[in-house]
Amino acid sequence: MRTENGQVVRLEDYKPSPYLIPETRLDFQLDPHETLVTATLKLERSEGASVDAPLELDGEELRLETLKIDGCDVPASGYEQHPDGLTITCLPASRTFELVIRTRIAPALNKALMGLYVSNGVFCTQCEAEGFRRITYFLDRPDVLSVYTVRIEADRKIAPLLLSNGNPVSKGELENGRHFAVWQDPFPKPSYLFALVAGDLGVLRDSFETASGRTVELGIYVEHGKEARATYAMDALKRSMRWDEKRFGREYDLDVFNIVAVSDFNAGAMENKGLNVFNDKYVLADADTATDVDFANIEAIIAHEYFHNWTGNRITCRDWFQLCLKEGLTVFRDHEFSADERSRAVKRIAEVRALRSHQFPEDQGPLAHPVRPRRYREINNFYTATVYEKGSEVVRMLQTILGDALFRAGMDLYFERHDGQAVTIEDFLKAFEDVSECDLGQFSLWYHQAGTPSVTVSSRYDARAATFTVELEQSVPPTPSENRKRLMHIPLSFGLVGPDGSDLPYRSAEGASVENGVIHLRKRHHTVTFTGVEARPVLSINRGFSAPIALSTQSRVEDRLFLARHDSDPFSRWQALTSLFNDALIAASKAVRGGKKPVFTEDLLTLAVNLATDASLEEAFRALVLTVPAEADIAREIGRDIDPDAIHAARMALLRSIAESGRDVFRSLYDNMRTQAPFSPDAASAGRRALRSTLLEFIAVGERSPRLAKQQFDEADNMTERAGALTVLAQHFYDTQEGRSALIAFEERYRDNPLVLDKWFQLQAMVPAHETVLNVRKLMRHGHFSMANPNRVRALIGTFSMANQTGFHAADGEGYRLVAETVTELDRQNPQVAARLATAFRSWRSLEKGRRELARSTLAELSSRKSLSRDLADIVERTLA
Ligand code: TRP
Ligand code: ZN
Repeated sequence: MRTENGQVVRLEDYKPSPYLIPETRLDFQLDPHETLVTATLKLERSEGASVDAPLELDGEELRLETLKIDGCDVPASGYEQHPDGLTITCLPASRTFELVIRTRIAPALNKALMGLYVSNGVFCTQCEAEGFRRITYFLDRPDVLSVYTVRIEADRKIAPLLLSNGNPVSKGELENGRHFAVWQDPFPKPSYLFALVAGDLGVLRDSFETASGRTVELGIYVEHGKEARATYAMDALKRSMRWDEKRFGREYDLDVFNIVAVSDFNAGAMENKGLNVFNDKYVLADADTATDVDFANIEAIIAHEYFHNWTGNRITCRDWFQLCLKEGLTVFRDHEFSADERSRAVKRIAEVRALRSHQFPEDQGPLAHPVRPRRYREINNFYTATVYEKGSEVVRMLQTILGDALFRAGMDLYFERHDGQAVTIEDFLKAFEDVSECDLGQFSLWYHQAGTPSVTVSSRYDARAATFTVELEQSVPPTPSENRKRLMHIPLSFGLVGPDGSDLPYRSAEGASVENGVIHLRKRHHTVTFTGVEARPVLSINRGFSAPIALSTQSRVEDRLFLARHDSDPFSRWQALTSLFNDALIAASKAVRGGKKPVFTEDLLTLAVNLATDASLEEAFRALVLTVPAEADIAREIGRDIDPDAIHAARMALLRSIAESGRDVFRSLYDNMRTQAPFSPDAASAGRRALRSTLLEFIAVGERSPRLAKQQFDEADNMTERAGALTVLAQHFYDTQEGRSALIAFEERYRDNPLVLDKWFQLQAMVPAHETVLNVRKLMRHGHFSMANPNRVRALIGTFSMANQTGFHAADGEGYRLVAETVTELDRQNPQVAARLATAFRSWRSLEKGRRELARSTLAELSSRKSLSRDLADIVERTLA
């Protein structure tokens, strides 16, 4: 499947490859500017392929030196080189033959960070999705599985460490200070899972005994001196390995499992077989430098990449349209892992918040696409919240529909049936149909239709007949290139909450299929009548966020207050409160725009204070209760004609009102929660710190004084409390003596720690003021800012564009201009990260008229530029369409 700039790849055009590569031998003579790669490939013509089918190899930015078939040079007339590959027409008639390709590459000049590159002096690779073709000519597609043997040769001083996939086979010394190592991976794998790392790194070692008694040597490689900061990651790895054995019956399969942390990386981490490569942000942590959120992310991502060993590596994707086959499923698995290791309720709320803030805007804007897309111009642009997060929600719904036991049976069958294969979503679903005898046809629309379905619910109680009637209606909004939508199968967990808070029993449910606490909505309208309901219940629906939908309930405010206080499902309690906050904030921002003072009801404020101070609830949950919807959340709820300044003012008014209501209790709670215990990253301790820092914000806002925040900043003995205090200072007291001196002290202290310095850039990018755009420009000239480091670019520009509504959307368009300029410059070296940054513009159509026009013209200007990368052109053009 070849793509020129602008050419579209279509799912319906999939054809199996006419050639396969059962064996791959690679030899690397490493050099930063002149690496020599020799690939010796065993080629095999596929069954049924024509003898004169040309061999179309993918390849980019390669210098071809030798091309031999079965030991003889291929004549110049027998092949043709083009910018994205090599076509060989002169081929032997035998079914199998040996192809030797020698190419040269320059890893030190590779700023796109795809293929083989150098990060901080370390050679490393990133091949997913189509990076292997920047290393050698190959059939760079996931359905071509090959057994790899890799020999790496390098200068011992520069690269004492030589790693690749699989198990180590041999190593030795050579002349001129060079040495080599040979690795072999016995499991056939697609090229995107290939990895090589060579450099001078320190290591943290451990080992793991699998359920069947095999010993696996574990290694986490980091820069010298940072080994101790990998301890938490190692612990997370061992817990992940154990959990996958217990929960899914999946054992690890090689003698070694290595993880390498690098500082320049386009994404979070990569699941290369036996050799995961990580953005060091998701490996390195200790009390002084990492926040509780960092620890939780490390645990989740270590688990995610490890879980890919089965869901992605042993069973991989037939083509890139099937990306969710591995990503959605693996996210589901890492979500379940974190839920089991931490608090399930708190984890679920965090997942739903993330889904709504990242996936919903995608699904409701110009970049909307199905979980399994049908076309793409650039696959890198489909590593999206829809594929990952919504993909995970679809797997969760499958579990809800089938129940835990059948779901597990379906997974077992999937592993057994497809081990060693490259498969599709249809294959995945078939395993569940076969174990359950359910028809998942309608359910499968979740993979095929884009858009967030909306469900409207109303209910009425008839006391005399003791019946409770629920009316449901679904609709799926049109999305780009899909106007007519079919009706979905939406599983809605529910309860009829009685006056004392426990679920009321009912005799029968008529009109729709209701099973085990789930209403299965399959038609446009459904009416369910529950009989034998002895008291008026309050309907609690979509409990645990059983379906990723936009729910609109015509429920009364008193009913939502009641659910927030009494529902047995903690997610629904949080949801009820959140929906009250949203309604109040929408009204408040309307008031602000009309020149009126926003007011909030005593009921809502008291509820928030009561929940936050209720000692019977988990502290992490109480922190979430006080986390009022972010400005972007409010904007999304408003949906059109958005004025970010009014939203900011409305939200600030709510913070002040809550602070006022909690005045007497927040401060004493904050003081009492102080602990002398040494830092521990466990979930309960993290929850305690989260609640305390949330309280700090209300206290500071209420007192209109930075004093307490500055005190917490000065006294903190861990990064969570230090960064928590600094966030309050930067958000609310940036222009005070305390705010300024804290930022200076922080920079002073962590100047030499890039991951912590990222937080410093990030906090300043978030300051809610129009002048922030000027400060961001100034920070781009800071000695430690660099366009070559994706983490730094994301910390400053990514944060500014995604998490600073009043700054990015400054009414004069300066925020848009800054982001567009940065994207253009970055695109010249790293198209993938540039394209990702450009998605910040995706909600431009919902802005008020002035900003909408400024955003549109900025995008139009960007799109009119010549020589945009395919990645960036794809995003900009779809966003404008
Ligand atoms: N497969 C990786 C994961 O989710 C994602 C990834 C890592 C990636 N590096 C990438 C995707 C580079 C695109 C480009 O675990
Ligand atoms: Zn993944």
